[in-house]
Amino acid sequence: MSTSGSAPKRIIVGVGGGIAAYKVCSVIRHFTERGHHVRVIPTASALNFIGAATFEALSGNPVDTGVFADVPSVQHVRLGQEADLVIIAPATADLMSRSASGRADDLLTATLLTARCPVIFVPAMHTEMWEHPATVANVATLRERGNIVIEPASGRLTGTDTGAGRLPEPEEISALGDLVLERSDAIPRDLEGVRVLVTAGGTREPLDPVRFLGNRSSGKQGYALARLAAQRGADVTLISGAGVHLPPPPAVALQHAGTAAELEAAVNAAAPEHDVVIMAAAVADFRPTTFVDAKIKKGPTEPSLIELTRNPDILAGLVRRRADGSLPQAKIIVGFAAETGDASGDVLFHARAKLARKGCDLLVVNAVGDGKAFEMDSNAGWLLSADGSEAAIEHGSKSLMSSRILDAITALLGDGACST
Ligand code: CTP
Repeated sequence: MSTSGSAPKRIIVGVGGGIAAYKVCSVIRHFTERGHHVRVIPTASALNFIGAATFEALSGNPVDTGVFADVPSVQHVRLGQEADLVIIAPATADLMSRSASGRADDLLTATLLTARCPVIFVPAMHTEMWEHPATVANVATLRERGNIVIEPASGRLTGTDTGAGRLPEPEEISALGDLVLERSDAIPRDLEGVRVLVTAGGTREPLDPVRFLGNRSSGKQGYALARLAAQRGADVTLISGAGVHLPPPPAVALQHAGTAAELEAAVNAAAPEHDVVIMAAAVADFRPTTFVDAKIKKGPTEPSLIELTRNPDILAGLVRRRADGSLPQAKIIVGFAAETGDASGDVLFHARAKLARKGCDLLVVNAVGDGKAFEMDSNAGWLLSADGSEAAIEHGSKSLMSSRILDAITALLGDGACST
């Protein structure tokens, strides 16, 4: 068990009385496996869905619901005071209402009153409840007080209805919890009203019906950016390329594109509606010139060479269209560069040249090779700006890197930056 180099933290997982309570077991396991001390505090009604024994076994700690449990240690005050992070999932309409009005009538709400650490509410309820003015007001109150209230996912709810209010997948909840442990101020609501387009993953350029030229991009960085931008309040469209096996981020409009040409068409269609475009996708520079309709057979002779044709540079195309006035909305265009050093220069040398060549406002630079960046959960790099400024991004999760990138974007938006 390891906390990836950081000290173990005290994490409280508060569980509200909703059917999604079963999903929280994976979140508890995520944090215990990283060596953190997890204490589960369910409401009494949560125990209708999951038994206390399950939470005790997963966390290795006792489970109480009332304020009169373990009175000698003044538990209803101590647990909140000692916590480094509180995650409430599922946060039901009732639980958020009780927390917003400062109630302390069970161990969980009492803990919320004494906690001074970051608190993340992960709502789950039917769409009507989520959209009800009472819940909207409670969410606003909780956010004003500095709590993080996650945007719920959309999709199948209990019963036959679908809509906003579904608990985000456990991986999403765990990733946001990890991010807040890394950086407690990483999820401000500073992108409300900003429309952000993100591309993620790789492209696949077909050669015949069963083969393609592809790359190793997993989409993790682009998905982390889309997820965090949405949680910071942005209206996010994510165009997902090939090779991505990740759950759709909550509150994000998701599209798919397989080839560079499909990605280009999707980006060009969506870009006019967005203020910020982030090209995190690893776009193939070349595609097979000819698509062979039938599977290519080995045959008795040596294989023939595959002729390649250059793909359009989507990022450079966006910058050109903005310069000629046909993308007036696009205030910020962000590119990514995965670089290795070589005999002609180091990673930053090549990255600076790429920023100048592409003409975007920000370039996120990763050093790749030796197993770095691709398919990994962590990353490090640099942020180069068109104004010549350069900032190193410390090693951390792809969510942490996303938070640094979004900070730079909000700073540019605040400056009214636009390279038209
Ligand atoms: N990109 C793009 N269209 C392409 C290739 C790349 O929009 N056909 C974007 C990527 O999404 C990324 C940036 O350009 O944001 C840099 O990608 P990279 O592959 O590093 O750039 P290249 O111009 O292909 O440079 P290199 O010659 O180093 O491969």
